[in-house]
Amino acid sequence: MFFNPEYIILSVIGSIIVAFMSLSSRQPLTLKQLKGSRFLPFKIRRHEGTYDETTESRVRSITELAEYHETAARLANMIHKDGAGTWPPRAEHAPSYWPPALRPFRDIYDEMAPLLPSATPSLDDDVNRERIAYFRSRLWNLLNDKVNLQEVTALLAAAEAGRWDVFPRDVYNAFYVCVAWCRHAYRWGTIPAVRVAQVEKTIVLPPELISTWASLQRHFGLDSDSGNMMSCLILNFSPSGEYALKINTGLSPIITSSEEEFARICNEMEALAVPIYHDIVRATISFAHGDKSACLEHVQGITSQLRPLLSSYYDRVHDSKIARSAWLSHVQGFFAWGAGYENESSGDWEKFDGLSGNQVLLFQALDAFLGLEVYLPKQVLLRNVPQLQREFSEAVGRHSFRHRLGNEGVEGRIKAEFGEIVKRLRVFRSAHRTRAKIYLTVPAPERLPMTAGKSLLKDNMDDSLEFLDEFMVLRLQQTV
Ligand code: HEM
Repeated sequence: MFFNPEYIILSVIGSIIVAFMSLSSRQPLTLKQLKGSRFLPFKIRRHEGTYDETTESRVRSITELAEYHETAARLANMIHKDGAGTWPPRAEHAPSYWPPALRPFRDIYDEMAPLLPSATPSLDDDVNRERIAYFRSRLWNLLNDKVNLQEVTALLAAAEAGRWDVFPRDVYNAFYVCVAWCRHAYRWGTIPAVRVAQVEKTIVLPPELISTWASLQRHFGLDSDSGNMMSCLILNFSPSGEYALKINTGLSPIITSSEEEFARICNEMEALAVPIYHDIVRATISFAHGDKSACLEHVQGITSQLRPLLSSYYDRVHDSKIARSAWLSHVQGFFAWGAGYENESSGDWEKFDGLSGNQVLLFQALDAFLGLEVYLPKQVLLRNVPQLQREFSEAVGRHSFRHRLGNEGVEGRIKAEFGEIVKRLRVFRSAHRTRAKIYLTVPAPERLPMTAGKSLLKDNMDDSLEFLDEFMVLRLQQTV
């Protein structure tokens, strides 16, 4: 048990979540069950048929465990708040569910989306400058004419005050995607992203995309001008699994399906990661309670579930699903940012990078569970990984027990199982290194070398690849 005040607060939140989940679930827990969960025996109850539990029952189990361990409390908190009660996080994209004040944003997306992409980018800077200026002024004017910023600000203030009855969390999540889409569309002005936009150092955005974004980012505990994995990909699916806001509206199926398949990896991975997060928590609690056999069972659960999860990546990141000809120019560029402003006190140029696979929670949680050092620098985490996700991974890392295991008996078997997880992660990391190179070396004459996650790179692709490869090789070496 933990006695630090933060943990006690989380435990209380956990109890509230239990009550909330019970009330809002389609199959509510009975009062007896609810009371029962408060008096869970110290030894954790093991479920029959552990690995065919549904997401709903897993979320309920995580919520019940919140009272017993910090890792579960952090995970339950993340699911309840950022996930709107489930995971992957729920986003209600149907405008009919949105408060009327927000709907103009969605109408503006509908109007602007077809104007953003072009099948073949121009290589003429003047043509591109004109195209970007036209797109930006039209988006600026629409926002100015149609959005009542006062009403929107009042709604966001209500959400900041915890009034989720007037601004439901799943609508809030979808609104985050819509504002992020408008900002990235404004940032680039045309897709594929082109050189004249890449070299811009600062972007003056429409007011409707500034104060809204600041409030949304505060909510998620983030500090970047750019969108991220959550705002651009994970939340960009409706509750029934439909890909919501698109970059390449109206272009060929090869481009639109490549875009969608890429987005789907990140959302699907989070869906398949729920049993893994659950087992990370249960393994950690079992170990803390000295139940080594249960711990082994949960660590084995993680290993076996990693294969189907990583298939979400392996089965999609190849030419027949995500076309090499489409990805770099038509998909990746939109997710970059590569602009900023001058810091008034230091005089330094603060540049924000865009999103990267390195923000995916699963890898951060697994690395933490394995006791590996954190991959992303603190500043990048604070800018791009939502606070509640950071807190979950940090808690997992604090309670990582891998390096306390002995070599004999059940502990030895748990240790060997950790070795299996490491092996699978190493296979992923070396496969990713090869596949990333294949996608990054496709010619894109309209632009300078750039990744979304690292912004502008070196002058030529060979040097850029060498620079990027250093990160990937280092991470591979650290995965032991
Ligand atoms: C196919 C397009 C992709 C390319 C070209 C690419 C490229 C890269 C590059 C260059 C890095 C190293 C530099 C950095 O951290 O920014 C990286 C890191 C990473 N990427 Fe990707 N990526 C792609 C897609 C994905 C996807 C779909 C995922 C997973 C859902 C992913 C997961 C990761 C992770 C977890 C890291 C951090 C390093 C590690 O943990 O091994 N990437 N990626």
